[in-house]
Amino acid sequence: MHGRPQHHMAVLFVCLGNICRSPMAEGAFRAAVARHRIDCFIDSAGTAAYHIGNAPDPRAIATAAAHGIAIGDQVARQIEARDFQRFSHIIALDSANLAGINARRPRDSHAEVMLLLDWLDGHQGRGVPDPYHGNEADFLAAWQLISRATEAMASRLAYLASASASPFDYPPRSN
Ligand code: 4NP
Repeated sequence: MHGRPQHHMAVLFVCLGNICRSPMAEGAFRAAVARHRIDCFIDSAGTAAYHIGNAPDPRAIATAAAHGIAIGDQVARQIEARDFQRFSHIIALDSANLAGINARRPRDSHAEVMLLLDWLDGHQGRGVPDPYHGNEADFLAAWQLISRATEAMASRLAYLASASASPFDYPPRSN
């Protein structure tokens, strides 16, 4: 988790607690980049400090496991200043956390900060609803959005790598 990533791309997923949504995103994206054979450093963090050092929520672990992905070894941490230098992409799970990330962003950071669902057609600008106070169905709904978006992201990045375009140009901006 520490040290400077030696990869071309480094992606950090960020939610509030780093125990539900961003650990699922980290796990789903790890599986997607393996399928697409992309070289990428991957981690996740929270904007809040509540759960530092904790494993993911048991419901997140169970939901990922039901889809063949193990996330139980992850350890929650809070986003820190150097993440803005270490990561090429900082991906927020919802707009509140996007705002939290941007509020911490140093002026000299070149990281692309964006919403995860900006990668998923029809869901741009939207957040993945927080399942923490919900039930198993809410975790499944979050998983489904996260796995579709991380697959779209990996597929797009694999295409860009093969076309030797810069992944820093994506996703395409609407302005
Ligand atoms: P996450 O979910 O941001 O997806 O990890 C939450 C986890 C913990 C809390 C809120 C959301 N909390 O208030 O402790």
